[in-house]
This record gives sequence, structure tokens and C-alpha cells, in this order.
Amino acid sequence: MNLKTTTTNLSPIRVGLLGIGTVGSGTFNVLKRNQEEIRRRAGRGIEITMVADLDVARAQALVGDGVQVVNDARQVVASPDVDIVIELIGGYGIAKALVLEAIESGKHVVTANKALLAVHGTEIFAAAQRKGVMVAFEAAVAGGIPIIKALREGLSANSIQWIAGIINGTTNFILSEMRDKGLDFGVVLKEAQRLGYAEADPTFDIEGVDAAHKATLMSAIAFGIPVQFDKAYVEGITALAAQDIRYAEQLGYRIKLLGITKRVSGGIELRVHPSLIPAKRLLANVEGAMNAVVVHGDAVGTTLYYGKGAGSEPTASAVIADLVDITRLHTADPEHRVPHLAFQPDAMSDLAIVPMSEIVTSYYLRLNVADEAGVLANVTGILASLGISIDAVLQREADEVGGEGSTQTDLIILTHDCVEARMNEAIAQMQALPTVLAPITRIRKEELA
Ligand code: HSE
Repeated sequence: MNLKTTTTNLSPIRVGLLGIGTVGSGTFNVLKRNQEEIRRRAGRGIEITMVADLDVARAQALVGDGVQVVNDARQVVASPDVDIVIELIGGYGIAKALVLEAIESGKHVVTANKALLAVHGTEIFAAAQRKGVMVAFEAAVAGGIPIIKALREGLSANSIQWIAGIINGTTNFILSEMRDKGLDFGVVLKEAQRLGYAEADPTFDIEGVDAAHKATLMSAIAFGIPVQFDKAYVEGITALAAQDIRYAEQLGYRIKLLGITKRVSGGIELRVHPSLIPAKRLLANVEGAMNAVVVHGDAVGTTLYYGKGAGSEPTASAVIADLVDITRLHTADPEHRVPHLAFQPDAMSDLAIVPMSEIVTSYYLRLNVADEAGVLANVTGILASLGISIDAVLQREADEVGGEGSTQTDLIILTHDCVEARMNEAIAQMQALPTVLAPITRIRKEELA
């Protein structure tokens, strides 16, 4: 068989790019640099033929004279000469309107916009289903790591049990620096902004929202449920103190911001929060701005995916993989394509996202207490009365915590698993003790065994 003739006869598929910033220019450059190999993989060429960007002159300089550049994205979406639209504008506003318009005009869409899909995915995927077009979003979760492909196709034999991921590079960089240098959150955030890791407005990153968008998408694909960002529990890293990272280390754990989704008897857990994880786990050793996702399937066991979660060419790698997929599949009947959310649209599950009060996990507690007789007994008495079993206790010398002559100290407790509602009750009771001197710090702990 002569493979060459089967891959060169078709005219290139035509792509319109909305927004040529960091990821857009990476996509343009990688497509150009690797065009021959991409053509051999896709079965035909893939060419960006039209670009929309507010800064037309800058965009034109980036792509050269052969590509039409306009400042009105609607012109790209409406053009009969575009087969696939790449949306790299971000946010829920104009991006949503443009994606829906592209779908209405029969174009396939590739997007890196996790916020848009996590919040409006149900509407967008339904519109795409009606029009028989694909909406691909590998770049929306963990940048260059092909985690969507792995969940949707590579692991399709499995009943997925749980996923835990470091899916925000900015916060992982901040936590790594806090641990390495013993600095507080605020100091490292400023450094991350100076180095260009964190945005000028880093709210979505540090409050856990970006990670929750990504966890929501993985949850939908893993369990065949609709995207439900509004039901996710979201807690960021802004309240983390340097001493918690130090105490965790002394107990054999590292603190990471994890996106977790898990199949449990009452439904599906979907949560993002700082978590202690054993220092010996591979995930605990993912440092700096890197991302990693662990997926546990009943057949395959535990698998780990690691790589760059952001950046120009790593994210372009994911965008282009979607372009190749669409190019391969767009002549196939819509029924024979890979479903947007991995499961056939008429076979979605109505498993509920369980409320946070019903999740079961173990805990790290730090209590700043008066260093006097009976304090430990009172605290452990409350835990015992609520049936919460203690795994380890660490008490620091008062002098070490509060300076010489100090009369207060830190009491660190690790617990075994218990239901969150019960832990809430225990914390309320302990907080009411006169010998507990400051708000109790609670960080969830995941053994990931
Ligand atoms: N802001 C994200 C991060 C990258 O820090 O990982 C894009 O999702």
C-alpha cells in the first residue's frame, strides 16, 4: 500500500484561530514546524488560514502575509472558508457567544477554556450534539498532559474509582517555594508574580477555582455525569501557614492543592482543597509549576500522568492533538466519533455530587493551645466522644513555638478517616475550649493508597 498517496490528496483542513497570545502563537509555530509529521498523522494538512485578534498588526507580524488577520472574531466564526475554530480568548463572556455561533454555523471547536466548559459545558455539548460537530478540549485540563484522551479513550475499559491531581501550576509553584524556603504564602505569591508565574490577578489560581474547573471536567468524563462546577467544593491555598507545611513534613507528609473526584456509595465526590499526602507518593514529589494526575481504574490500577500544565508550546501540543483528532474524524458519522464527555449522550449517569459534609477522609489539625495540664486530655476526649480515631499526635515545645518562656504551644493531630460532618462538630467543640487560643487549622489528608 502506498501510504503517501492516501495522505496527500485531500486539501488541508482550514482552521480559524480566535486570539493569538501565548498559546495561539505556540499553536501556529508548532503546526508550521511539524506540518509534515502532522499531515502524515492526520491524513491531510492542517492550516491556520484566518486569525482574529484585537491587535491586528502584532498578529499579522506573527503569522506572516499568507494568513488573513481580522480584529472581529465573528468574521472567523462566520467564514465559509473555516472548518475548525480554535477559541483561545478565555472567560465566559464573548468566548461563550463565539463558541455557540461557531457550532451553529457547523464548525468544529477546539478550546482551552476550562472555565467556559466547566460552567456552561452542558449547553455547549448539547448544541454541538444537535449540529453534529465536535468540541475538543484537551488543552483545558493540565495543559500539555493528554489526560482527557487517557480518561476518555485509553482507560475506557475501566470503572474509574478516583482521580487526584495537581492541576494548577501556579499554586504548586507557591507551595514548593513555601516548603523549600520556609516562607509564608503572601511572600511567595509576590515572588511568583514577579517571575511571571502568577497573573496580576491570581484569584482563580490561588482560590482553587481554576483547579476546580479542571476537576469538574475530569469528573464528568470519568463518571459519565454532566459538568457540575456549581456543586464542587473549592478551597484554595491562601490560608496556608508556613508552620503547617513544616509540621506536615515532620510527620512524613507534603501539602499539595489537589483536585479530587471519587466514586463513593452515595454518588461522586468533587472537591479541591489543600491536602496532606504521604511524602513517599510520586504525586508529593511533583514540584514547581508542573502538573500531575493520578487515575485509579478498577482494571488498570493506579496510573500517573505528569508534565507541563501551562505554557505556549506544551498547551499548543494539546490544541494540535485535538485538531488532528477532528481532522481524522470529521468525515465519520457523528455516532461513530468519540463522545464529548466519553459516555454516549443518552447514557449519562445521574449519580449525585455528594455534599462536602458527607465526604469521608482523614485530617490534620493544628491547635494553638495553652501549655497546661489537661489540655491534651480535653481535646482527645472530644475526638473520642465523637468516635474519631487519632493516628498521630505531635506537640512542639512551647519555647519553640512562642519563643522563650512562652505559655502556649502547637498541638498537631492526625486522624484516621471520619465523615466531614463529624469533624466539623469536633472542631466546633474543641474551638469552644478556653485553652484553645486561636482558630483551629484543619487540612484534609489523602493517603492515595
Ligand atoms: N493558571 C493555570 C496554572 C494555567 O497555573 O496552572 C492554565 O490553566
